[in-house]
Amino acid sequence: MNDRLPPAAYLSELFSLEGRVAVVTGGTSGIGRAIAEALARAGASTVVVARREAELAATVAALEGHGRRAAAVSADLGSRDAVARAAEEAAAAFGEPDILVSAAGINLRPPMDDLGAEVWDTTMAVNLDAPFLLGQRFGPGMAARGFGRLIHIASQQAFRASVTSGAYGVSKAGLVALARSQAEAWSPRGVTANTLVPGFVMTPLNARLSSDPAKVKALAERTMTGRNGLAEDFAGAAVFLASPSAAYVTGQSLFVDGGFSAH
Ligand SMILES: NC(=O)c1ccc[n+]([C@@H]2O[C@H](COP(=O)([O-])OP(=O)(O)OC[C@H]3O[C@@H](n4cnc5c(N)ncnc54)[C@H](OP(=O)(O)O)[C@@H]3O)[C@@H](O)[C@H]2O)c1
Repeated sequence: MNDRLPPAAYLSELFSLEGRVAVVTGGTSGIGRAIAEALARAGASTVVVARREAELAATVAALEGHGRRAAAVSADLGSRDAVARAAEEAAAAFGEPDILVSAAGINLRPPMDDLGAEVWDTTMAVNLDAPFLLGQRFGPGMAARGFGRLIHIASQQAFRASVTSGAYGVSKAGLVALARSQAEAWSPRGVTANTLVPGFVMTPLNARLSSDPAKVKALAERTMTGRNGLAEDFAGAAVFLASPSAAYVTGQSLFVDGGFSAH
């Protein structure tokens, strides 16, 4: 290690994703979109996976606007066949990924009394099964190559009940455990697995809640910073977890929530 590097070169040594390939599910909106942009701007060739074609095309154009290679895969991650196909298409774009961010998620929020098997199954398929299946597809290859980063987006509701946690909270608690299992399996071979834990973030996922000023204010007051989250708040944390400097951070949940969970 050169201990006389100028600051930009030193930061690059710690955090650059130059030469890496990233796949970001849900990379066209909200938190996933902010993470895709951050990984691309940090140097990664980035593939975004989601359903809607127009949003995929717009995201690819934005990432390419940063001078990075970008590609899109349209798939409904609620179907196992589609997950398998999406994984192959994603790997075909720039090669097998070094970084997998599972940000695609849904929150259907029926009251517990009305929570039926259909909502349960759909929620588990998108929020938990898809990250598991993609991890099984890409994790062993990452381990064989000696480098990999698995980043899941969990939720406060993995740890506490709030705002009709229902099936959603269970799926997110499963993700936290999945990251631990992946970390246990693959960290000895250079693959870390962690979760980022948002508080309340103003994205399309929360459109209904976000349109109620009283609820938005009450949620902001539960943080220590006095405001709700923005998608951009996840950029630095994602780059850090994806970077070479996070090699010794694994099996963890990193709360990016303005202190929401700390009291
Ligand atoms: N916002 C919050 O307050 C908050 C809090 C805690 C955790 N989270 C988690 O953070 C992650 C991102 O949430 P967000 O708030 O940024 O949501 P968002 O803005 O609604 O974005 C969701 C993304 O997932 C994709 N997606 C949804 N269903 C999909 C499916 N079946 N197949 C493929 N892609 C699908 C969407 O694209 P298409 O619709 O085009 O498919 C979109 O790109 C989620 O896992 C969410 O649970 C969010």
